[in-house]
Amino acid sequence: MTDNILIAPSILSADFLHLKDQIAACEDAGADWIHVDVIDGHFAPNLTFGPLIVEACRRATKLPLDVHLMIEQPERLLADFAKAGADHLTVHVETCPHLHRTLQEIKSLGCKAGVVLNPATPTVMIEPVLGMVDLVLVMSVNPGFSGQAFISEAIAKVRTIRQKLDEIMSRAWLEVDGGMAADTVPQMRAAGANVFVAGNAVFKYPQGIAAGIRALRG
Ligand code: DX5
Ligand code: ZN
Repeated sequence: MTDNILIAPSILSADFLHLKDQIAACEDAGADWIHVDVIDGHFAPNLTFGPLIVEACRRATKLPLDVHLMIEQPERLLADFAKAGADHLTVHVETCPHLHRTLQEIKSLGCKAGVVLNPATPTVMIEPVLGMVDLVLVMSVNPGFSGQAFISEAIAKVRTIRQKLDEIMSRAWLEVDGGMAADTVPQMRAAGANVFVAGNAVFKYPQGIAAGIRALRG
């Protein structure tokens, strides 16, 4: 069980007409990172935004921007996202035939390098790069949309990755994304995750953003 947990609200669930205020509300409520979901409509359904919005978020907050790239050929846009102010760039193993090189490139751009795997992708796929990443992200929904149901098979994957990170004495963050709420965070925390992305549980929480973040911390 990890002591200190980080909360990363996903702006995919935010009201984009009031994005600046919503990010400020997250920051005031003690959010740790802002999670930014870039989706291209090819790798995953849904079409969101690119470096332009990342750059706007950069001007809205000092919190680290945790940019989750759900796009094909992410290597083509890494420099643009770094320039826009991304702090973390996380790429899907399913999109990267040259994953090692892509992660090296992220680091050379001065960003933290993250790797993420879909619910149907086995953990063995990221084993060769575990020693070089700053962050591992485990999807507990299929990428594309906020508000989907939690896929509980992801718990065992988090447990496996926690064990492997500990074996190599890696201090990489172990982050989970999808269906995180007051009931699922404790299960993922017990499995060894220490960063929790949440969209609906923050921005659509009935009592507001601050109460949503409080509820996630338990
Ligand atoms: C899904 C995104 C998530 C999403 C999470 O493709 O990667 O970050 O916004 O939303 P919730 O927390 O509502 O499942
Ligand atoms: Zn995400």
